[in-house]
Amino acid sequence: MKPIVAPSILASDFANLQSEVTMINESQADWIHVDIMDGVFVPNLSMGLPVVQAIKKHATKPLDVHLMIVNPERYVEAFFEAGASIISVHLEASPHLHRTIQQIKALGCKAGVAINPHTGVEQLQDILSDIDLVCMMSVNPGFGGQKFIENTYKKVSRLKSMIDKAGAKVHIEIDGGVNQKNAKPLMDAGADVLVAGNFVFSSSNPKLVIEQLKNS
Ligand code: DX5
Ligand code: ZN
Repeated sequence: MKPIVAPSILASDFANLQSEVTMINESQADWIHVDIMDGVFVPNLSMGLPVVQAIKKHATKPLDVHLMIVNPERYVEAFFEAGASIISVHLEASPHLHRTIQQIKALGCKAGVAINPHTGVEQLQDILSDIDLVCMMSVNPGFGGQKFIENTYKKVSRLKSMIDKAGAKVHIEIDGGVNQKNAKPLMDAGADVLVAGNFVFSSSNPKLVIEQLKNS
C-alpha cells in the first residue's frame, strides 16, 4: 500500500503561497498539512485563519489541520469554516478530548489526536474507536526542520497492534523529520500517512521528492 503523503506548508515560501499550493495540487501529494501554533502550547507562532482560508482558495486537496494550540475546542469550528477536512488536536492540550473529538466529527471533519514524543500511545486506548487519525509527533512540536526521534518506530508498532486488536480504522500519521530514509521503515512499522516539510520544500524538485515519498 502506498502512503498518504501530506507536505507541510509551514516549510513553504509564504511569499509565494499560491504557487506552492499549485505545486502540491500538481504533485502526487494527497493532503496539505497545515500547522497552527499559538506561542503557548508550543514556543512558536505560525499562521492563523486568514492564511488557512487563502490556502483553501487554491487547494484541490484536503487540508489536514494540526492544531498546536491550547483550548483547541474554541477554534475547531472556525478552522472547519476556513476549509479544514481533517482536524487534529493535541491530547496534551485537551482535558475533555472525547468531547472535542465529537465536536470535530459533528462538523463532518475527520478527527485526529496528536501526541508529543513523550506521550505513550497507551493513552489513546479509550479514544481509538472514536478517531480517524493519530498524528504521532516524531519531533517536539513547534518547529520544522528538526531531527527525527528514533523512538518513534517503537511507538508506531505499539499503536498499530492496539489499532488492529481493537479492529479500528485509524490512520497513523508521522509528523516531523520525515525523509526518504525513514519513510519505508515507518511504513513497515505501521504508519500510513507521511507529513514532510523541509524534506519537500528545501529540495530543488519538490514534486519529485513527493513522488519518491509516495513510492517509499
Ligand atoms: C512541527 C510540525 C510539523 C513540521 C514538519 O511542529 O507539526 O508538521 O511542519 O516539518 P519537517 O518535516 O521539516 O520536520
Ligand atoms: Zn504538523
